[in-house]
Amino acid sequence: MKVTRLLILTGIIGLIYGCGSPVAEVQIVPEPASMEIHTGSYRVATGAPLYVNSKDAGLKQAAVYLAERFKKSSSYAPEIQVSEQPAGKGIFLALQKLDFSTNPEAYRLEVTGDGVTISGNTPRGVFYGVQTLLQLFQPAIYGDEQVLKKKDLKIRQLMIQDEPAFKWRGMHLDVGRHLFPVSFIKKYIDLIAMHKMNVFHWHLTEDQGWRIEIKKYPKLTGIGSVRIYPDGTKYGGFYTQEEVKEVVAYANSRFVDVMPEIEMPGHSVAALAAYPELSCTGGPFKVRTAWGVSRDVYCAGKEETFHFLEDVLSEVVDLFPFQYLHVGGDECPKIRWKACPDCQRRIREEGLKNEHELQSYFIRRIEKFLETKNRRLVGWDEILEGGLPPAATVMSWRGIKGGIAAAQQGHDVIMSPTGYCYFDHYQGDRRYEPKAIGGFLPLEKVYSYDPVPANLTPQEAKHILGAQGNVWTEYISDKAKVEYMALPRMCALAEVVWTPKPLRDYEQFTLRMDAQYARLDAMKVNYRVPPPVVVNRDLSAGDSLNLILKNPLDITTIRYTTDGTDPVVSSDIFPDSLMTEKQTTVKAATFMPGGHSSKIIELYIGIKN
Ligand code: ACM
Ligand code: ZN
Repeated sequence: MKVTRLLILTGIIGLIYGCGSPVAEVQIVPEPASMEIHTGSYRVATGAPLYVNSKDAGLKQAAVYLAERFKKSSSYAPEIQVSEQPAGKGIFLALQKLDFSTNPEAYRLEVTGDGVTISGNTPRGVFYGVQTLLQLFQPAIYGDEQVLKKKDLKIRQLMIQDEPAFKWRGMHLDVGRHLFPVSFIKKYIDLIAMHKMNVFHWHLTEDQGWRIEIKKYPKLTGIGSVRIYPDGTKYGGFYTQEEVKEVVAYANSRFVDVMPEIEMPGHSVAALAAYPELSCTGGPFKVRTAWGVSRDVYCAGKEETFHFLEDVLSEVVDLFPFQYLHVGGDECPKIRWKACPDCQRRIREEGLKNEHELQSYFIRRIEKFLETKNRRLVGWDEILEGGLPPAATVMSWRGIKGGIAAAQQGHDVIMSPTGYCYFDHYQGDRRYEPKAIGGFLPLEKVYSYDPVPANLTPQEAKHILGAQGNVWTEYISDKAKVEYMALPRMCALAEVVWTPKPLRDYEQFTLRMDAQYARLDAMKVNYRVPPPVVVNRDLSAGDSLNLILKNPLDITTIRYTTDGTDPVVSSDIFPDSLMTEKQTTVKAATFMPGGHSSKIIELYIGIKN
């Protein structure tokens, strides 16, 4: 399809006024593939129902989602009505074959003086049209306070034809190292859906905790979900199967697929603490309290290991309808296997060359089992070592080499290299950032990512399904920090995987982010605000010092104090430059229009001697 951002405007770009309420500027994230902005506006006919053109259950879900947003944020509480054509002015959601694309996720959104029509080849496409529609309203549409009046429900007339660049648009969350409540998992899913992303990769088992109830093996959660520190402090918890079902249903209502990850053969100490007989040495083990990689892994020689994993996976498959299931496969040291008679016997009997091939045997055997359950195996790129199972999909994390090799072997690939997709890395100057695992991944670098490696042939490139952002939580112990680490990098990645490459422009993106930040404010998301940029803190004329700070974004305000207290929303605005002859400690922070602020930077200014 053609890729355009056409502005057919006779008026001003910006807030367009008329009849009292302003019409918000069109700032959509991720940027649509093609858009024509017309003059004129449309005010939602709040007397009208929300029309759907069929009884399709998925279409109804998209309509229910939209109606819910209106009900929560405004005085408009539409009923949903099935009607082949809209009976009057209003919003019309239609399952309809699109003439510009066969992509199941494509949609057309048309706003005229008479109403809104969203059409899609599938309910999922219609849902993405709904997401775009929401972004045409004021940001408060994303909130749960009924602040929007009927007169505020006014949007620009336009025509958008849109579809994603990539099929896999994922976000991962590690709940092994730290656990987050179901309510937060739902919020995370809301954020995924809002960004037109479609996979939530739920990393459910780790050395430091087993987080999913398995009925046949109660010790997995009874023992494996709690780690006990040397001082006796306990940390733990897990999701019951009922809670898992609730999360999956919630995600489903937002067209997000949930991919569980059950780690094997490594990162499994929590399971081994519960069932030490599944290890090479027999244990005993404690649920790990230290991060890192354990030498103790599932024994690949014992049949019990496979019976156990098949039982576990059988319960998991019943909870997660998504076609893909992640089995980990990363960071599995071979030291125990080398010394284990069972593992060595397996190597001999199966004619394997070494322990890498034993890992390959392990994963292949699990893949065969998953096939009987109609599921496709996903693994980290280590599953390439010793040979890939026939139908495996590879998640490339140690750079892009694994992804390239897998695509060249004809396997599907999801790109998630640490250098672009690891949202547990620092995103700014470490002096002003909360502790992270390491690395440096600023927003602009995420935005610059191209999931398709340059050296692939067009045929090989077809195997790159998309990309995914990973949020490992060794250093992320609460939900506010998950939000801080994930946002706004998730917004940048959403555009990488949705927007056609020729339309991706970082400057343009940062302008559109003004609106996205306001939406995140409405959702009460603790996204990262960049701190003030230190431009100059040198000795100037005579003995005085001159401090110049720059606003990191057009919409922000820098506030500061010199009395040692933390700057707040009522603190003084930082002047163009601050001259001082005294020794002073300046504390400054960036404030968004809604009041959300950056981390505080602290600068000592005094006479250098
Ligand atoms: C990983 O980050 N160990 C997949
Ligand atoms: Zn063994």
